[in-house]
Amino acid sequence: MASVSGPAQTASASAPPLQRGIVKMVLSGCAIIVRGQPRGGPPPERQINLSNIRAGALARRAAQGQPESKDTPDEPWAFQAREFLRKKLIGKEVCFTVEYKNMHREYGMVYLGKDTTGENIAESLVSEGLATVRREGFRGNNPEQARLCDLEDQSKASKKGLWSEGGGAQTIRNIKYTIENPRNFVDSLHQKPINAIIEHVRDGSVVRALLLPDYYLVTVMLSGIKCPTFKREADGTETPEPFAAEARFFTESRLLQRDVQIILESCPNQIILGTILHPNGNITELLLKEGFARCVDWSMAVYTQGAEKLRAAERSAKERKVRIWKDYVAPTANLDQKDRQFVAKVMQVVNADAMVVKLNSGEYKTIHLSSIRPPRNEGEEKNKDKDKRFRPLYDIPYMFEAREFLRKKLIGKKVNVTVDYIRAATGPGEGTPAFPERTCATVTIGGINIAEALVSKGLATVIRYRQDDDQRSSHYDELLAAEARAIKNGKGLHSKKEVPIHRVADISGETQKAKQFLPFLQRAGRSEAVVEYVFSGSRLKLYMPKETCLITFLLAGIECPRSSRNTPGGMQVAEPFSDEAMLFTKELVLQREIWANYEEKPVEEVVHLSEEKERVANYKPVYVTEITDTLHFYAQDVETGSQLESLMETMRAEIAAQPPVEGSYSPRRGDYCIAKFADGEWYRARVEKVESPAKVHVFYIDYGNREVVSSTRLAPIPPAFSTRTLPVQATEYTFAFIQVPQDEDARADVVDCVVRDIQNTQCLLNVEYSGATCPHVTIQFGDTKEDVGLGLVKEGLVMVDVRKEKHLQKMVTEYLNSQESAKSARLNIWRYGDFRADDADEFGYSR
Ligand SMILES: *[C@@H]1O[C@H](CO)[C@@H](O)[C@H](O)[C@H]1NC(C)=O
Ligand SMILES: *[C@@H]1O[C@H](CO)[C@@H](O)[C@H](O)[C@H]1NC(C)=O
Ligand SMILES: *[C@@H]1O[C@H](CO)[C@@H](O)[C@H](O)[C@H]1NC(C)=O
Repeated sequence: MASVSGPAQTASASAPPLQRGIVKMVLSGCAIIVRGQPRGGPPPERQINLSNIRAGALARRAAQGQPESKDTPDEPWAFQAREFLRKKLIGKEVCFTVEYKNMHREYGMVYLGKDTTGENIAESLVSEGLATVRREGFRGNNPEQARLCDLEDQSKASKKGLWSEGGGAQTIRNIKYTIENPRNFVDSLHQKPINAIIEHVRDGSVVRALLLPDYYLVTVMLSGIKCPTFKREADGTETPEPFAAEARFFTESRLLQRDVQIILESCPNQIILGTILHPNGNITELLLKEGFARCVDWSMAVYTQGAEKLRAAERSAKERKVRIWKDYVAPTANLDQKDRQFVAKVMQVVNADAMVVKLNSGEYKTIHLSSIRPPRNEGEEKNKDKDKRFRPLYDIPYMFEAREFLRKKLIGKKVNVTVDYIRAATGPGEGTPAFPERTCATVTIGGINIAEALVSKGLATVIRYRQDDDQRSSHYDELLAAEARAIKNGKGLHSKKEVPIHRVADISGETQKAKQFLPFLQRAGRSEAVVEYVFSGSRLKLYMPKETCLITFLLAGIECPRSSRNTPGGMQVAEPFSDEAMLFTKELVLQREIWANYEEKPVEEVVHLSEEKERVANYKPVYVTEITDTLHFYAQDVETGSQLESLMETMRAEIAAQPPVEGSYSPRRGDYCIAKFADGEWYRARVEKVESPAKVHVFYIDYGNREVVSSTRLAPIPPAFSTRTLPVQATEYTFAFIQVPQDEDARADVVDCVVRDIQNTQCLLNVEYSGATCPHVTIQFGDTKEDVGLGLVKEGLVMVDVRKEKHLQKMVTEYLNSQESAKSARLNIWRYGDFRADDADEFGYSR
């Protein structure tokens, strides 16, 4: 192995030369891995064992696939010795001497810092009682060895570490190498940051982490990204993909054996996805920015927080062509900026995924929406009426709805167009028709991405790509998320309902039918219609939704010059100004509703206000014990907290003295009883439902949590501890001025946030008004006195419930102001704008 770094100082004749390096990893209380200077690529590494001392061995997992091998636990004080060195040395410069070597290992003295005046690590360990001295083979004349022996005698005398009484059993970790149900485990953490030590870096984006304080050892994949990996070959060797070693080094040098916090975000297919928090920055973002990782669609989709940030980091790496992107070419690289992004007016909606826009120059251009696929005819020819012409717009399910959605939102309006890619023309191939070149773009209006709106209504689907395919929407993740919502909510194409049918009588071009139809239309007087096609300045095709027919319509009293057309007599040349006339009419009426009836909706009457009174703010301290999935919560009154504590204490003492006979109690609904919780302790409870003796639903009356338990874990409540002695201690409340989101995911986000903020903490609570099931309250953090509910509104996690009571108006106004700022910052539920407003109506969310 290459040397870490050359001899640093002129060594004296007898002492071994001094060398230097940075500590990469602590293997145990007596061995470290030291890294030298990088020489283009990851730097050389060496393992150094501390000579003259011995520290305990750390736990080892049984070798996989070898049934006779067993897990080996920590030796006493081994983990403490490792931790002592880890905290002292990781990432630090050390210098060391190598006293002797054998095959793979080098043994020597290690000092913190640049020279031997620094802390002698072996001495520190021995002083702390974390290592013993190897006295065998010592010669009397070595002052360093003599000093170690003295230090050991001192640490023995003061009973430190290994020399303390009791054998150190409490220093042995109970490591959990496997988790039975990782998904439940991840869910139960509610995305709370957990303290952890990164124990191993498998590749740039996959680590082994030791979760504290319970010592779960888990493999965590960084959410949203993937680094190049080491491919395992059949013969057991590993072949690195390009930049795999560099990416691993990048992560290793920042995170290996560091104290971090981890948010475990989700667990698809037993893989735990998470984000690592470190004060120096966000490794996920850094890896992307440096071109060590790429975004991964599936993992990105489970992770809504900051997905745009990750894409932006990746984009920046691509633009700079760093590392894995060294050969990258942007899909719009050969377009001018002005052709890449522009404002244009929508003149016509073509099918359900394209539109004709008029540019500033007056030119017309057809734009396709990026990454979406319009409703398709799934090849169902079965019920097709042979007599009727096939009209895709009306006959393909949801095509008309999609077109109408676009037409109503866009026609005649200015939109922002950002070209994402140009799809090259494809020639006709075997079974595939020819497609002309397509300009594919993200089209927004008032900040709303129209493709996303379409997808979230189930009126289009999202195209899936190969991971490396860049020819896609610049807002691809949002499209996927919108599609997931549309599927979940059963919208449009994803609906289980019968597809809407549009039977149209096409009487355009059929003189006879038209004649029969005319009196009918005349009697109707004014009709609504949409201009579907402009043949010439005065000749139109109309769709009449009420009458469900297509007609040809001539503007009475005028005739415009005709354009060129085929007639039985041959090609007729266009009359002068025919094109100009046609364009004129097109701009005015194409796809417009020519006779639209607007009726203003009456404004809602203001609800009668209750009599005037002042809001009463009388905050009392409570301890929040439980948050439910519907955003209700349970809290204990802090004033009676000590009574509960003493009741529990005496109750448990009594139960311990006279344990209940297991199985002697048969629970009935409504009973108060005692129940043994997962922590092995007894608590007061109420029976809510008895499914079977093995499945009894209980509610812990003093804490507000529920559980399904076997009746063997229940017993009658000793009378001295009934609710007559001390009433039920957990009271149910919900947040005032807040609407709980109906959308499951959005609700889970708020619940996670509230659990993180206030579960098991002391807060201040004020009842604002009563509700159907429980009082509605505002709650303040115990320390900062900030309003928790207002915080949720500020974060855009919930909507304001606008109360009309006069005495609450000041509060309501404050809540509404915060809602406005969350909206303009596009936070969380507002990330697609105000989805309640008309433009984004039913944006996949429901109130
Ligand atoms: C050197 O350190 C390694 C890692 O802790 C350990 O397994 C090994 O036993 C040590 N060697 C000696 C001779 O102490
Ligand atoms: C990365 O971490 C920073 C700071 O903790 C945070 O603000 C940011 O949102 C994180 N980014 C992602 C993509 O999670
Ligand atoms: C187009 O984008 C600009 C800048 O983002 C914005 O100010 C403008 O309102 C947008 N126009 C439309 C029609 O959405």
